[in-house]
Amino acid sequence: MGTNSNLVVITGGASGIGEATARRFATAGMQVVIGDVNEERGRQIAEELHKAGQQVFFYPLNLAIDESISQFSRRVLEAHGVPDVLVNSGGVLQNAVRLLEMDMAEFDRLSNINVRGTLMACRAFGGAMCERGKGAIINLCSLTTFRASAQIGYAIGKAGLKMLTEVMAAEWGPKGVRVNAVAPGYTLTPAMQARIDSGERNPDAVVQKSALRRFVEPSEVANTIYFLCSDEAAAITGVTLPIDCGWLVTTAYSSYAAQP
Ligand SMILES: NC(=O)c1ccc[n+]([C@@H]2O[C@H](COP(=O)([O-])OP(=O)(O)OC[C@H]3O[C@@H](n4cnc5c(N)ncnc54)[C@H](O)[C@@H]3O)[C@@H](O)[C@H]2O)c1
Repeated sequence: MGTNSNLVVITGGASGIGEATARRFATAGMQVVIGDVNEERGRQIAEELHKAGQQVFFYPLNLAIDESISQFSRRVLEAHGVPDVLVNSGGVLQNAVRLLEMDMAEFDRLSNINVRGTLMACRAFGGAMCERGKGAIINLCSLTTFRASAQIGYAIGKAGLKMLTEVMAAEWGPKGVRVNAVAPGYTLTPAMQARIDSGERNPDAVVQKSALRRFVEPSEVANTIYFLCSDEAAAITGVTLPIDCGWLVTTAYSSYAAQP
């Protein structure tokens, strides 16, 4: 990574963390392909950045459908070549629910998009990256990767993605492909804002339980993803890095049985 011809593929690049990541790589002069189910927004972003002189393209992608993923990857590989970077930001959040009351259709939908979709996108591009002998992949984990939460289907999936990241890092490392994950804390994206607005997330609880007393910004996740894909991070593979304003440490610290 580092020259103008470098190619970055971002699933879920039409909103939130994916959009911020697309903007980050495009600003650095890299060619960016966004894949997303939200075609209208994806095309808008690509058009806006094109007008600003950046090389950003949009192709439709539905991570819940294998054929859509293979169509998307064929299109990208034919038109743009093998990506240097793949960022798997396409995904859906979940509201808190008790296990006995969880709708299994929702569980299947979450698993299909967040886990299977990510795995299939990695397979769709990973083979070509391995053949070429270089590449960097980023998966999107979460605080629920490390801590139990009532977003059961989401949490199980995000824990699974940590393992997928580790397995791919071990398998593809010898071929020159690095695979890492980021685990954003509560990040103010459109998906998170919608849950705050509908009362599904309490922003005061988030702020109080974060060491830095604030939410994470999408651009902060994007900057970390950019670093992990750069040569500055050439020795890092197989990690899942929290970007959480200190939520993990504060929730542990404040629940310890003795407080000063
Ligand atoms: N916002 C947070 O606090 C937070 C925290 C931890 C992890 N994450 C993860 O970050 C990723 C991005 O989340 P976000 O908050 O930016 O959400 P977002 O809704 O703002 O963006 C997600 C994008 O994924 C796309 N998408 C959804 N289903 C898709 C499908 N089937 N096929 C292709 N694209 C699809 C959406 O259209 C959207 O553009 C997700 O994996 C999420 O789990 C978010």
